[in-house]
Amino acid sequence: MDLSPRLAAIAAQVPQGSRLADIGTDHAYLPVALLLDGTIPSAVASDVNRGPLERGRLTAQQAGVEENIDFRLTDGLRGLDESQADTVVIAGMGGELIARILSEAPWTREVLLLLQPMTAQPELRRWLTENGYRIQRETIVCEGEKLYIVLAACGGQDTPYALAEFWAGRQRRGESAPLRLAYLDDLLARRKRALAGMERSAHPPEGIETERQLLAQLEQMREEWITWQQ
Ligand SMILES: C[S@@+](CC[C@H](N)C(=O)[O-])C[C@H]1O[C@@H](n2cnc3c(N)ncnc32)[C@H](O)[C@@H]1O
Repeated sequence: MDLSPRLAAIAAQVPQGSRLADIGTDHAYLPVALLLDGTIPSAVASDVNRGPLERGRLTAQQAGVEENIDFRLTDGLRGLDESQADTVVIAGMGGELIARILSEAPWTREVLLLLQPMTAQPELRRWLTENGYRIQRETIVCEGEKLYIVLAACGGQDTPYALAEFWAGRQRRGESAPLRLAYLDDLLARRKRALAGMERSAHPPEGIETERQLLAQLEQMREEWITWQQ
């Protein structure tokens, strides 16, 4: 089964032999692909909506792996614990929803998390780093015109994040991230537009100084990244 670049980037990080839980599975493309290529022996695939779950069941039936997937109609991680999963994927949802789902399942500090937030990435990074999780790695993926981010996280603690690191993720010298510059440029363009909008308003909004600080820090990160590549 051919996965989209976004799902393929997640699949590539699932360890061989994992007990996988795919939360918000929809078509169940990820667990089905990982079963077919022998990465995992079985999976739990859950969704809060009946329609997506049935679509997932159909994908599994057509691929002949329905017996290996435990389909569950449930909200987030409800009904699951660490005895049933050691790798948890939550992809294609908003960052705040992902944080809410994790907040209801503290046992997820014991497993590998692969998270792919569609929105609110800064809020998710902040929530993780302030709630006993450590972001081990960030992968930037290009699909169509868009850049997506996949966070690999586990329980633990890191040194505190600076404001711009909540927005852009922590960059590490020597890491290979071919799309990092494009990601930083995209973020900088968005934040510049946001700041320009604030500056145009008759009464500058409260957050304007923070926005200026963010922009300065992001520019600094960009410079640092370019220097590291030389
Ligand atoms: C955009 S799809 C993403 C599907 C797949 N994970 C992917 O990344 O391609 C989001 C799915 O999450 C499900 N979902 C939304 N809120 C959820 C929740 N609280 N618990 C479980 N699933 C949820 C939706 O029903 C939908 O099927």
